[in-house]
Amino acid sequence: MKFLDLGQQPIANAFLTPGKCETEFFYDLEVGVDLDTSLVSHINFVPPSMMFNDSYVYNTSSSKTMVKHFKSIAKEIKQTFGDLKILEIGSNDGTFIRHFDIDKAVAVEPCGNFAKFTSEMGYNTYNNFWDQKLAVQLAHMFNRFDVIYSANCMCHIQDLDSAFRAIYYALDDNGVFIFEDPSLLEMLERNSYDQIYDEHAHIFSVTALNNILQTIGFEIFRVDKTPIHGGSNRVFAKKKHSIQNPPDGSLDIELEQEDIAGVSEKQTYLDFADRVENSKNSLLELLHEIKDGGNKIISYGATSKSTSVFNYCGIGTDLIDYITDTTPDKQGKLSPGVHIPVVSPEEGFDDSVDYAFLGAWNFLEEITKKESKFLRRGGQFITHVPEARILRGEPISTT
Ligand code: TMP
Repeated sequence: MKFLDLGQQPIANAFLTPGKCETEFFYDLEVGVDLDTSLVSHINFVPPSMMFNDSYVYNTSSSKTMVKHFKSIAKEIKQTFGDLKILEIGSNDGTFIRHFDIDKAVAVEPCGNFAKFTSEMGYNTYNNFWDQKLAVQLAHMFNRFDVIYSANCMCHIQDLDSAFRAIYYALDDNGVFIFEDPSLLEMLERNSYDQIYDEHAHIFSVTALNNILQTIGFEIFRVDKTPIHGGSNRVFAKKKHSIQNPPDGSLDIELEQEDIAGVSEKQTYLDFADRVENSKNSLLELLHEIKDGGNKIISYGATSKSTSVFNYCGIGTDLIDYITDTTPDKQGKLSPGVHIPVVSPEEGFDDSVDYAFLGAWNFLEEITKKESKFLRRGGQFITHVPEARILRGEPISTT
Protein backbone atom coordinates (compact mmCIF):
# COMPACT_ATOMS: atom_id res chain seq x y z
CA MET A 1 0.00 0.00 0.00
CA LYS A 2 1.48 3.36 -1.03
CA PHE A 3 1.29 5.88 1.80
CA LEU A 4 3.82 8.63 1.12
CA ASP A 5 5.09 10.68 -1.82
CA LEU A 6 8.22 12.75 -1.19
CA GLY A 7 8.11 14.10 -4.74
CA GLN A 8 10.85 14.31 -7.34
CA GLN A 9 14.17 13.52 -5.68
CA PRO A 10 17.75 13.35 -6.95
CA ILE A 11 20.43 10.84 -5.90
CA ALA A 12 21.01 11.95 -2.30
CA ASN A 13 24.79 11.79 -2.43
CA ALA A 14 25.31 12.93 -6.05
CA PHE A 15 26.85 16.36 -5.46
CA LEU A 16 27.22 18.44 -8.60
CA THR A 17 30.04 20.42 -10.08
CA PRO A 18 28.87 24.02 -10.69
CA GLY A 19 28.10 24.52 -14.38
CA LYS A 20 27.51 20.80 -14.95
CA CYS A 21 23.97 20.29 -13.67
CA GLU A 22 22.01 19.78 -16.90
CA THR A 23 21.71 15.99 -16.82
CA GLU A 24 20.75 15.51 -13.18
CA PHE A 25 18.70 12.37 -12.55
CA PHE A 26 15.40 12.62 -10.65
CA TYR A 27 12.88 9.96 -9.64
CA ASP A 28 9.57 9.97 -7.83
CA LEU A 29 10.20 8.98 -4.21
CA GLU A 30 7.08 7.05 -3.29
CA VAL A 31 6.96 4.82 -0.24
CA GLY A 32 4.74 1.86 0.52
CA VAL A 33 4.20 -0.82 3.15
CA ASP A 34 3.58 -4.50 2.53
CA LEU A 35 0.87 -5.13 5.11
CA ASP A 36 1.56 -8.90 5.12
CA THR A 37 5.18 -8.60 6.25
CA SER A 38 5.14 -4.95 7.53
CA LEU A 39 8.11 -4.16 5.29
CA VAL A 40 8.33 -0.46 4.34
CA SER A 41 10.04 0.09 0.98
CA HIS A 42 10.35 2.44 -1.94
CA ILE A 43 7.91 1.82 -4.74
CA ASN A 44 10.44 2.83 -7.44
CA PHE A 45 13.93 1.56 -6.69
CA VAL A 46 16.89 3.51 -8.06
CA PRO A 47 19.44 1.29 -9.91
CA PRO A 48 22.19 0.47 -7.33
CA SER A 49 25.09 1.43 -9.61
CA MET A 50 23.71 4.99 -9.82
CA MET A 51 24.15 5.33 -6.04
CA PHE A 52 27.06 3.09 -5.14
CA ASN A 53 29.97 3.61 -7.48
CA ASP A 54 33.55 4.87 -7.50
CA SER A 55 32.46 8.45 -6.78
CA TYR A 56 30.55 7.63 -3.60
CA VAL A 57 31.17 10.41 -1.05
CA TYR A 58 30.01 9.25 2.38
CA ASN A 59 32.84 8.08 4.60
CA THR A 60 32.04 6.61 7.98
CA SER A 61 35.10 8.01 9.73
CA SER A 62 33.94 11.61 9.10
CA SER A 63 32.10 11.47 12.43
CA LYS A 64 33.70 10.80 15.81
CA THR A 65 30.40 9.27 16.94
CA MET A 66 30.62 6.63 14.21
CA VAL A 67 34.29 5.89 14.87
CA LYS A 68 33.51 5.30 18.56
CA HIS A 69 30.42 3.27 17.72
CA PHE A 70 32.25 0.83 15.45
CA LYS A 71 35.16 0.44 17.87
CA SER A 72 32.73 -0.48 20.61
CA ILE A 73 30.66 -2.99 18.60
CA ALA A 74 33.86 -4.61 17.26
CA LYS A 75 35.08 -5.09 20.84
CA GLU A 76 31.73 -6.50 21.92
CA ILE A 77 31.58 -8.95 19.01
CA LYS A 78 35.04 -10.28 19.90
CA GLN A 79 34.16 -10.58 23.59
CA THR A 80 30.81 -12.27 23.00
CA PHE A 81 31.47 -14.51 20.01
CA GLY A 82 35.28 -14.83 20.01
CA ASP A 83 37.93 -13.45 17.70
CA LEU A 84 36.73 -15.57 14.79
CA LYS A 85 36.51 -15.42 11.02
CA ILE A 86 34.43 -12.41 10.07
CA LEU A 87 32.96 -10.99 6.87
CA GLU A 88 31.82 -7.39 6.64
CA ILE A 89 29.34 -6.47 3.93
CA GLY A 90 29.54 -2.76 3.06
CA SER A 91 32.91 -2.01 4.66
CA ASN A 92 33.11 1.65 3.51
CA ASP A 93 36.47 3.10 4.65
CA GLY A 94 37.26 0.26 7.07
CA THR A 95 36.15 2.02 10.28
CA PHE A 96 34.77 -1.28 11.65
CA ILE A 97 36.97 -3.95 10.09
CA ARG A 98 40.20 -2.27 11.16
CA HIS A 99 39.58 -3.71 14.65
CA PHE A 100 39.98 -7.28 13.34
CA ASP A 101 43.10 -9.21 12.32
CA ILE A 102 43.91 -9.05 8.62
CA ASP A 103 44.04 -12.85 8.29
CA LYS A 104 40.61 -13.33 9.88
CA ALA A 105 38.52 -10.63 8.19
CA VAL A 106 37.15 -10.19 4.68
CA ALA A 107 35.56 -7.02 3.32
CA VAL A 108 32.92 -6.51 0.63
CA GLU A 109 32.38 -3.01 -0.72
CA PRO A 110 30.81 -1.98 -4.06
CA CYS A 111 32.30 1.54 -4.12
CA GLY A 112 35.80 1.23 -5.61
CA ASN A 113 37.14 4.39 -3.96
CA PHE A 114 36.34 2.86 -0.54
CA ALA A 115 37.24 -0.76 -1.34
CA LYS A 116 40.72 0.66 -2.03
CA PHE A 117 41.06 1.76 1.62
CA THR A 118 40.60 -1.71 3.15
CA SER A 119 42.60 -3.31 0.38
CA GLU A 120 45.51 -0.98 1.11
CA MET A 121 45.15 -1.77 4.82
CA GLY A 122 45.84 -5.40 3.84
CA TYR A 123 42.34 -6.91 4.09
CA ASN A 124 41.02 -9.31 1.47
CA THR A 125 38.53 -6.92 -0.14
CA TYR A 126 35.95 -7.67 -2.80
CA ASN A 127 34.87 -4.62 -4.77
CA ASN A 128 31.41 -6.07 -5.48
CA PHE A 129 27.75 -5.81 -4.66
CA TRP A 130 26.69 -8.54 -2.27
CA ASP A 131 24.96 -11.40 -4.10
CA GLN A 132 24.65 -15.18 -4.29
CA LYS A 133 27.52 -15.56 -6.75
CA LEU A 134 29.91 -13.74 -4.40
CA ALA A 135 28.66 -15.78 -1.41
CA VAL A 136 29.53 -19.01 -3.22
CA GLN A 137 32.93 -17.62 -4.25
CA LEU A 138 33.78 -16.51 -0.70
CA ALA A 139 32.57 -19.73 0.92
CA HIS A 140 34.81 -21.61 -1.53
CA MET A 141 37.86 -19.40 -0.84
CA PHE A 142 37.57 -18.94 2.93
CA ASN A 143 35.13 -21.62 4.07
CA ARG A 144 32.08 -20.37 5.88
CA PHE A 145 32.23 -17.36 8.22
CA ASP A 146 31.65 -17.40 11.98
CA VAL A 147 30.34 -13.85 11.98
CA ILE A 148 28.82 -11.84 9.15
CA TYR A 149 28.41 -8.16 10.05
CA SER A 150 26.81 -5.35 8.12
CA ALA A 151 25.96 -1.79 9.18
CA ASN A 152 23.67 0.52 7.22
CA CYS A 153 23.86 -1.72 4.20
CA MET A 154 21.11 -4.37 4.30
CA CYS A 155 18.48 -1.62 4.02
CA HIS A 156 20.19 -0.56 0.78
CA ILE A 157 19.61 -3.93 -0.87
CA GLN A 158 16.50 -4.11 -3.01
CA ASP A 159 16.20 -7.91 -3.30
CA LEU A 160 16.33 -8.80 0.39
CA ASP A 161 15.29 -12.40 -0.07
CA SER A 162 18.24 -13.11 -2.33
CA ALA A 163 20.71 -11.15 -0.13
CA PHE A 164 19.65 -12.94 3.06
CA ARG A 165 19.79 -16.35 1.31
CA ALA A 166 23.36 -15.54 0.20
CA ILE A 167 24.26 -14.69 3.81
CA TYR A 168 22.72 -17.94 5.01
CA TYR A 169 24.90 -19.78 2.50
CA ALA A 170 28.13 -18.03 3.53
CA LEU A 171 27.53 -18.40 7.28
CA ASP A 172 28.81 -21.30 9.36
CA ASP A 173 26.05 -23.53 10.79
CA ASN A 174 26.74 -22.11 14.26
CA GLY A 175 27.62 -18.65 13.00
CA VAL A 176 25.92 -15.32 13.74
CA PHE A 177 24.65 -12.69 11.36
CA ILE A 178 24.67 -9.22 12.95
CA PHE A 179 23.33 -6.20 11.14
CA GLU A 180 22.15 -2.74 12.01
CA ASP A 181 20.01 -0.27 10.13
CA PRO A 182 17.73 2.69 10.92
CA SER A 183 14.60 1.73 12.83
CA LEU A 184 11.11 2.23 11.44
CA LEU A 185 9.69 2.68 14.93
CA GLU A 186 12.12 5.53 15.65
CA MET A 187 11.28 7.13 12.29
CA LEU A 188 7.56 6.99 13.03
CA GLU A 189 8.05 8.37 16.54
CA ARG A 190 10.39 11.22 15.50
CA ASN A 191 8.65 12.11 12.21
CA SER A 192 12.12 11.74 10.73
CA TYR A 193 10.88 11.13 7.18
CA ASP A 194 14.33 12.18 5.95
CA GLN A 195 15.47 8.64 6.79
CA ILE A 196 13.84 7.96 3.45
CA TYR A 197 16.12 8.64 0.49
CA ASP A 198 17.31 6.67 -2.52
CA GLU A 199 19.86 4.52 -0.67
CA HIS A 200 17.40 3.46 2.02
CA ALA A 201 15.36 1.13 -0.18
CA HIS A 202 13.71 -0.19 2.99
CA ILE A 203 13.19 1.16 6.49
CA PHE A 204 13.14 -1.92 8.70
CA SER A 205 10.87 -2.75 11.57
CA VAL A 206 11.97 -5.71 13.67
CA THR A 207 8.57 -7.20 12.83
CA ALA A 208 9.34 -7.16 9.09
CA LEU A 209 12.84 -8.56 9.58
CA ASN A 210 11.51 -11.32 11.80
CA ASN A 211 8.94 -12.27 9.15
CA ILE A 212 11.46 -12.27 6.30
CA LEU A 213 14.39 -13.94 8.09
CA GLN A 214 12.18 -16.75 9.37
CA THR A 215 11.21 -17.77 5.85
CA ILE A 216 14.90 -18.16 4.99
CA GLY A 217 15.77 -20.31 8.01
CA PHE A 218 17.18 -17.68 10.37
CA GLU A 219 16.09 -17.04 13.93
CA ILE A 220 16.60 -13.66 15.60
CA PHE A 221 17.99 -14.25 19.09
CA ARG A 222 18.74 -10.69 20.19
CA VAL A 223 17.85 -7.11 19.23
CA ASP A 224 19.72 -4.05 20.53
CA LYS A 225 18.57 -0.49 20.12
CA THR A 226 21.32 1.98 19.28
CA PRO A 227 21.06 5.79 19.00
CA ILE A 228 23.06 5.79 15.74
CA HIS A 229 21.55 7.49 12.66
CA GLY A 230 18.65 8.82 14.68
CA GLY A 231 17.76 5.41 16.14
CA SER A 232 18.73 2.03 14.76
CA ASN A 233 18.14 -1.63 15.52
CA ARG A 234 21.01 -4.07 15.73
CA VAL A 235 19.71 -7.54 14.95
CA PHE A 236 21.51 -10.78 15.88
CA ALA A 237 20.37 -13.84 13.93
CA LYS A 238 21.51 -17.47 13.74
CA LYS A 239 20.48 -20.50 11.75
CA LYS A 240 17.26 -21.91 13.21
CA HIS A 241 18.68 -25.37 13.86
CA SER A 242 21.75 -24.11 15.78
CA ILE A 243 21.49 -24.71 19.51
CA GLN A 244 24.01 -21.97 20.27
CA ASN A 245 22.90 -18.44 21.21
CA PRO A 246 19.45 -19.01 22.72
CA PRO A 247 16.99 -16.08 22.45
CA ASP A 248 17.52 -13.51 25.21
CA GLY A 249 13.94 -12.17 25.21
CA SER A 250 14.74 -8.83 23.54
CA LEU A 251 13.04 -9.83 20.27
CA ASP A 252 9.70 -10.35 22.02
CA ILE A 253 9.97 -6.95 23.72
CA GLU A 254 10.63 -5.20 20.39
CA LEU A 255 7.83 -7.07 18.62
CA GLU A 256 5.41 -6.09 21.36
CA GLN A 257 6.46 -2.43 21.22
CA GLU A 258 6.07 -2.37 17.45
CA ASP A 259 2.69 -4.05 17.72
CA ILE A 260 1.54 -1.36 20.15
CA ALA A 261 2.84 1.31 17.74
CA GLY A 262 0.79 -0.32 14.95
CA VAL A 263 3.55 -1.17 12.47
CA SER A 264 1.25 -3.69 10.79
CA GLU A 265 -1.71 -1.33 10.52
CA LYS A 266 -2.60 0.79 7.53
CA GLN A 267 -3.76 3.76 9.63
CA THR A 268 -0.32 4.14 11.26
CA TYR A 269 1.19 4.96 7.87
CA LEU A 270 -1.62 7.27 6.80
CA ASP A 271 -1.18 9.21 10.07
CA PHE A 272 2.58 9.37 9.51
CA ALA A 273 2.04 10.81 6.01
CA ASP A 274 -0.15 13.56 7.53
CA ARG A 275 2.54 14.38 10.07
CA VAL A 276 5.16 14.57 7.30
CA GLU A 277 3.11 17.11 5.41
CA ASN A 278 2.62 19.18 8.58
CA SER A 279 6.36 18.99 9.22
CA LYS A 280 7.05 20.41 5.77
CA ASN A 281 4.61 23.29 6.24
CA SER A 282 5.87 24.21 9.68
CA LEU A 283 9.54 24.05 8.65
CA LEU A 284 8.88 26.34 5.68
CA GLU A 285 6.97 28.75 7.90
CA LEU A 286 9.79 28.81 10.47
CA LEU A 287 12.55 29.35 7.89
CA HIS A 288 10.60 32.13 6.14
CA GLU A 289 9.94 33.87 9.45
CA ILE A 290 13.64 33.77 10.39
CA LYS A 291 14.78 34.85 6.95
CA ASP A 292 12.24 37.68 6.80
CA GLY A 293 13.73 38.93 10.06
CA GLY A 294 16.96 39.64 8.12
CA ASN A 295 18.90 36.64 9.44
CA LYS A 296 21.43 34.48 7.66
CA ILE A 297 20.57 30.77 7.70
CA ILE A 298 22.98 28.06 6.63
CA SER A 299 22.71 24.29 6.83
CA TYR A 300 25.10 22.19 8.93
CA GLY A 301 26.07 18.91 7.21
CA ALA A 302 25.38 18.17 3.54
CA THR A 303 23.65 14.94 4.45
CA SER A 304 21.53 12.48 2.52
CA LYS A 305 18.77 13.38 4.95
CA SER A 306 18.98 17.07 4.07
CA THR A 307 18.74 16.21 0.35
CA SER A 308 15.42 14.56 1.14
CA VAL A 309 14.14 17.47 3.24
CA PHE A 310 15.25 20.26 0.90
CA ASN A 311 13.85 18.60 -2.22
CA TYR A 312 10.58 17.57 -0.58
CA CYS A 313 10.03 21.01 0.97
CA GLY A 314 11.43 22.99 -1.98
CA ILE A 315 14.11 24.71 0.12
CA GLY A 316 16.88 26.33 -1.93
CA THR A 317 19.22 29.30 -1.80
CA ASP A 318 16.23 31.59 -1.20
CA LEU A 319 16.29 30.30 2.40
CA ILE A 320 19.65 28.60 2.97
CA ASP A 321 22.73 30.57 1.87
CA TYR A 322 25.02 27.54 1.80
CA ILE A 323 25.78 24.24 3.50
CA THR A 324 28.92 23.51 5.51
CA ASP A 325 30.33 19.99 5.46
CA THR A 326 33.58 18.41 6.60
CA THR A 327 33.83 16.03 3.61
CA PRO A 328 36.37 17.40 1.11
CA ASP A 329 34.63 15.65 -1.84
CA LYS A 330 31.40 17.56 -1.15
CA GLN A 331 33.06 20.98 -0.78
CA GLY A 332 32.95 23.29 -3.81
CA LYS A 333 29.99 21.31 -5.15
CA LEU A 334 26.24 21.98 -5.27
CA SER A 335 23.78 19.94 -3.24
CA PRO A 336 21.66 17.44 -5.21
CA GLY A 337 18.40 18.77 -6.66
CA VAL A 338 18.15 22.21 -5.07
CA HIS A 339 21.77 23.21 -5.83
CA ILE A 340 22.81 24.89 -2.59
CA PRO A 341 26.61 25.50 -2.53
CA VAL A 342 28.61 23.32 -0.12
CA VAL A 343 31.65 24.82 1.62
CA SER A 344 34.02 23.71 4.36
CA PRO A 345 33.15 24.68 7.97
CA GLU A 346 36.38 26.74 8.05
CA GLU A 347 35.13 28.77 5.12
CA GLY A 348 31.46 29.08 6.01
CA PHE A 349 30.81 28.57 9.71
CA ASP A 350 31.83 32.07 10.73
CA ASP A 351 30.41 34.93 12.80
CA SER A 352 28.04 35.99 10.00
CA VAL A 353 25.86 32.90 10.58
CA ASP A 354 22.76 33.55 12.69
CA TYR A 355 21.00 30.18 12.32
CA ALA A 356 22.16 26.74 11.24
CA PHE A 357 19.67 24.12 10.09
CA LEU A 358 20.85 20.74 11.33
CA GLY A 359 21.16 18.57 8.25
CA ALA A 360 23.09 16.19 10.49
CA TRP A 361 20.55 16.31 13.37
CA ASN A 362 21.45 12.75 14.31
CA PHE A 363 24.92 14.00 15.38
CA LEU A 364 23.51 16.80 17.55
CA GLU A 365 25.50 15.87 20.64
CA GLU A 366 28.81 15.81 18.74
CA ILE A 367 27.95 19.04 16.94
CA THR A 368 26.84 21.08 19.97
CA LYS A 369 30.02 20.05 21.78
CA LYS A 370 32.12 21.13 18.83
CA GLU A 371 30.22 24.36 18.18
CA SER A 372 29.89 25.77 21.69
CA LYS A 373 31.42 29.06 20.50
CA PHE A 374 28.61 29.50 17.96
CA LEU A 375 26.01 28.92 20.66
CA ARG A 376 27.78 31.23 23.15
CA ARG A 377 27.78 34.11 20.71
CA GLY A 378 24.01 33.71 20.18
CA GLY A 379 23.98 31.44 17.11
CA GLN A 380 21.06 29.02 17.07
CA PHE A 381 20.42 25.61 15.59
CA ILE A 382 17.19 24.74 13.82
CA THR A 383 15.82 21.23 13.46
CA HIS A 384 12.71 19.66 11.99
CA VAL A 385 12.88 16.53 14.20
CA PRO A 386 10.48 15.70 15.76
CA GLU A 387 8.94 19.05 14.83
CA ALA A 388 10.28 22.25 13.23
CA ARG A 389 11.80 24.43 15.94
CA ILE A 390 14.75 26.47 17.10
CA LEU A 391 16.80 24.56 19.68
CA ARG A 392 17.05 26.76 22.72
CA GLY A 393 19.49 24.99 25.00
CA GLU A 394 16.98 22.20 25.60
CA PRO A 395 18.12 18.71 26.54
CA ILE A 396 19.47 16.75 23.62
CA SER A 397 16.99 14.14 22.57
CA THR A 398 17.51 13.64 18.88
CA THR A 399 20.52 11.32 18.91
P1 TMP B 1 24.87 11.38 6.29
O1 TMP B 1 23.89 11.89 7.31
O2 TMP B 1 24.35 11.36 4.90
O3 TMP B 1 25.37 10.07 6.76
O4 TMP B 1 26.13 12.37 6.23
C1 TMP B 1 26.69 13.03 7.31
C2 TMP B 1 27.45 14.24 6.76
O5 TMP B 1 27.54 15.22 7.78
C3 TMP B 1 28.85 13.96 6.29
O6 TMP B 1 29.05 14.52 5.01
C4 TMP B 1 29.76 14.70 7.27
C5 TMP B 1 28.84 15.77 7.77
N1 TMP B 1 29.17 16.26 9.12
C6 TMP B 1 29.67 17.56 9.26
O7 TMP B 1 29.85 18.30 8.28
N2 TMP B 1 30.00 18.00 10.51
C7 TMP B 1 29.84 17.20 11.62
O8 TMP B 1 30.14 17.64 12.73
C8 TMP B 1 29.29 15.88 11.46
C9 TMP B 1 29.09 14.99 12.65
C10 TMP B 1 28.98 15.45 10.18
